[in-house]
Amino acid sequence: MASNSGILAHYGALMDLPEYSRPVTLLEGDTPLIPVPRLAEELGGGFELFVKFEGLNPTGSFKDRGMTAAISEAAGRGVKAVICASTGNTAASAAAYAARAGMRAVVIIPAGKVAAGKLAGAVAYGAEVIQIEGSFDDALGLVVEISQRQPIALVNSLNPYRLEGQKTAAFEICDTLGGAPDWLCLPVGNAGNITAYWMGFRQYHALKGSGLPQILGVQAAGSAPLVLGHPVEHPETVATAIRIGKPARGEQALQAAEESNGRIIAVTDDEILAMQHQLAANGVWVEPASAAGLAGLAHELCEGRIDVRGRRVAAVCTGHGMKDPDVVIRGWGKPPVLPADRDALEEAILGGRA
Ligand code: F0G
Repeated sequence: MASNSGILAHYGALMDLPEYSRPVTLLEGDTPLIPVPRLAEELGGGFELFVKFEGLNPTGSFKDRGMTAAISEAAGRGVKAVICASTGNTAASAAAYAARAGMRAVVIIPAGKVAAGKLAGAVAYGAEVIQIEGSFDDALGLVVEISQRQPIALVNSLNPYRLEGQKTAAFEICDTLGGAPDWLCLPVGNAGNITAYWMGFRQYHALKGSGLPQILGVQAAGSAPLVLGHPVEHPETVATAIRIGKPARGEQALQAAEESNGRIIAVTDDEILAMQHQLAANGVWVEPASAAGLAGLAHELCEGRIDVRGRRVAAVCTGHGMKDPDVVIRGWGKPPVLPADRDALEEAILGGRA
């Protein structure tokens, strides 16, 4: 199997998609599982650490795995338009795959709360973008209603085919490592992805005896309904991708954590940004939400609540850093603009160091 054939060609036999589906692909998946030994040392050492870099999918996030499946099913039954609520990545992905299939894509987003790279993506791929004065949770409630009333297909992760696609990342991790890692860390927002990973690991284990990881799901402290045990009316976090107060698949996420003998925890925005920085210093630039899984691992290690010595840990980094340039530029300060002059540049470069 060619390595860049897309997940339908590679894992289609293991995906529960209707016969009538018509493949719509951008050759998503087959993302690298990057060893990050120095980061493992920085977190205390004595274990193997890998980053599943889902930001290298065609539209820059893991959503493409789910979208190739959902849009293929929709295309197969002649759907002309799709709709989703989104914190940004689902919007860009739905827009791209709908464009590929020749469908309309309508995306509903919380006004002013979507990172620039995601909004630009949705617009570039030709989606009809509607901002609402409300949260992602409000938007999701509305698109569910609209999809029930109108001939327009829902492509949020309530759509079961989304999970069928997203679970293939678990297969890839097992194939690369020769079995499941001991721990899997990942961010949790609407809770589709954690649910999909757990489905994938269980399916592969039943089929191939690949083992099961313990799952550490991580929410942002200002948007942590699964940790608090109740919905959050006004979720806030710098990690806008997971700024979600009423996760649609919350029950399944809690079940995945429990069945895997893992847990769901929360980390602060400072911890998320510090890990984003630390990952970038190891050569992997991800958007803030994508650093949450590893920030959670760091948190648990620091508190002595997790023992990974001699173990293999995989962290899912869900979206590329380029999705949210502003968060980095904000923290950068304003560098001086110098004259185009060698002496001035040498002075700036060598300054106090010469
Ligand atoms: N990481 C990123 C970068 C995301 O965009 C999302 C979700 C998650 C993690 C959480 O995944 O919702 O399956 O638990 N983004 C959705 C969106 C909500 O609209 O793009 P989840």
